[in-house]
Amino acid sequence: MALNIEIKRTLDGSDTLFVPAIKEHYHSIFGAVQESRHVFIEQGLLAVSEDIDPVSVFEVGFGTGLNALLTDLTAKSHRREVRYTTIELYPLDRTVWGTLNYPAYLPETDAAERFNKIHEAPWEVPQQMNQGFHLTKIQADLRQYTPPDSAFDVVFFDAFAPGVQPDLWTKEIFERMYRMLHPGGLLVTYSCQGEVKRNLRYAGFSIEKLPGPPGKREILRAGKN
Ligand SMILES: C[S@@+](CC[C@H](N)C(=O)[O-])C[C@H]1O[C@@H](n2cnc3c(N)ncnc32)[C@H](O)[C@@H]1O
Repeated sequence: MALNIEIKRTLDGSDTLFVPAIKEHYHSIFGAVQESRHVFIEQGLLAVSEDIDPVSVFEVGFGTGLNALLTDLTAKSHRREVRYTTIELYPLDRTVWGTLNYPAYLPETDAAERFNKIHEAPWEVPQQMNQGFHLTKIQADLRQYTPPDSAFDVVFFDAFAPGVQPDLWTKEIFERMYRMLHPGGLLVTYSCQGEVKRNLRYAGFSIEKLPGPPGKREILRAGKN
């Protein structure tokens, strides 16, 4: 299904996408890069112990590729080795991702090269992107996807909001996320809704509320005990 999509500028100056059919943005309108950095990089990737090498990340919703790009850049700057697997049901066309301003917005001079490489990488085939960053993009529906058990250190749960896609925030999906994590593994998400917390707890996670990025009071980090 090809989605009708509009590009919007968020308050930190970075772009996001808006899907009129579901009235939903891909990121916080207060700042796309700010949100991705805070929720997924700082509270997710960098919360994984430095003793874990490589770090295995699973992302729900590849979307614009922003989380993947920031992870690639962080792997380089922090000298971490990252294996990044991401699932997406509706990959974006080049006419959309090619116009996003992330490469120009980010200070790293190689951001454009890395961003293009991430998007141009074939689906379903594990790829060594850059030193320290391995990428596997899976085109599939999360609801039908059975991930391998105990294979990941951190899940970036970046689906559309629970009010828009309640069937992606269920106990059953979180049980699968729980099984796919190593003991001590983490799941981070921007949503702090009551139903999300209940379903995460039901799946076995312990929940930690953390301060959110500007415009969002709290976010969630869930741990596999
Ligand atoms: C909030 S956006 C993701 C933002 C993304 N992480 C980024 O940095 O741009 C949610 C993403 O989930 C994808 N998605 C929606 N339903 C899905 C499903 N059933 N399975 C996998 N991905 C899905 C959407 O197409 C969209 O790209």
